[in-house]
Amino acid sequence: MSVVACYSSKGGVGKTAAAVNLSFAAAERGIRTLLLDLDQQGAASFYFRVRPAKGHRARWFMDGTPRALRFVCETDYADLHILPAHISYRKLDTMLGSVRRAKRRLGDLIEYAAKDYELIFLDCPPNLGLVAENIFRVADTLLVPLIPTTLSKRTFYQVDEFFERSGYDRAKLRPFFSMVDVRKRMHRDTRTELRASEPRLLATEIPLCAQVEAMGTFREPVLRGFPGHRSSQAFRDLLREVIAIQESKRATGVPHC
Ligand SMILES: Nc1ncnc2c1ncn2[C@@H]1O[C@H](COP(=O)(O)OP(=O)(O)O)[C@@H](O)[C@H]1O
Ligand SMILES: [Mg+2]
Repeated sequence: MSVVACYSSKGGVGKTAAAVNLSFAAAERGIRTLLLDLDQQGAASFYFRVRPAKGHRARWFMDGTPRALRFVCETDYADLHILPAHISYRKLDTMLGSVRRAKRRLGDLIEYAAKDYELIFLDCPPNLGLVAENIFRVADTLLVPLIPTTLSKRTFYQVDEFFERSGYDRAKLRPFFSMVDVRKRMHRDTRTELRASEPRLLATEIPLCAQVEAMGTFREPVLRGFPGHRSSQAFRDLLREVIAIQESKRATGVPHC
């Protein structure tokens, strides 16, 4: 079982679009997949037309039991389950501040889910607090969507520095270009620069396109609504890269970079 987080400390960069489409792409390949929607805004849950059941609360995340997993829902798709977000997740950081093993609670929960799933995706909030530190510990790989702009690049390296300072494994951070618009000079220049300097950068790029944006209207993954579109192909390619990274880690015991 592998845990793959779609993470950035920046909002609006394509974390949820990636988490939703990668989860769907994995399930499409017959991989038993769980998506944990960790963002109180619940966008991934919305895309999959799932609402949190009565009684679902943030506190089940940190009680050291598998209780939160009772709230896992089926989606409309085979092999794809989701634990929807709840508005109370907005208090997760504060709540974690007053428990023991505050940075390991998500890992404890995921251990309970490990036997039922081959791949667990995390759709993360744009956070660099205790929730994020739980994610940094438990994720085998952190996919970081990076819009090819100066500010997004800066945000990525801030997280990278935080990893270094805090002793987390920097090789887990795998940026990929998101919302790429080759008509923009800044996108082309940032891409050229990072391709030359950042070995952790994944090969796949997700293009900026209306079809991905339309997921909000149709409430389904772009792979479902527009299976032949180049953005769907890009998400499938991204999944292939992610699976190759996990296989390489398993085979060698060292990060694949
Ligand atoms: N490749 C893309 N092309 C066009 N719009 C996109 C693309 N990826 C995401 N979006 C849109 O950008 C907004 C932010 O994307 P989202 O995945 O929700 O980001 P995050 O989860 O990082 O906040 C959403 O409105 C989404 O529909
Ligand atoms: Mg999101």
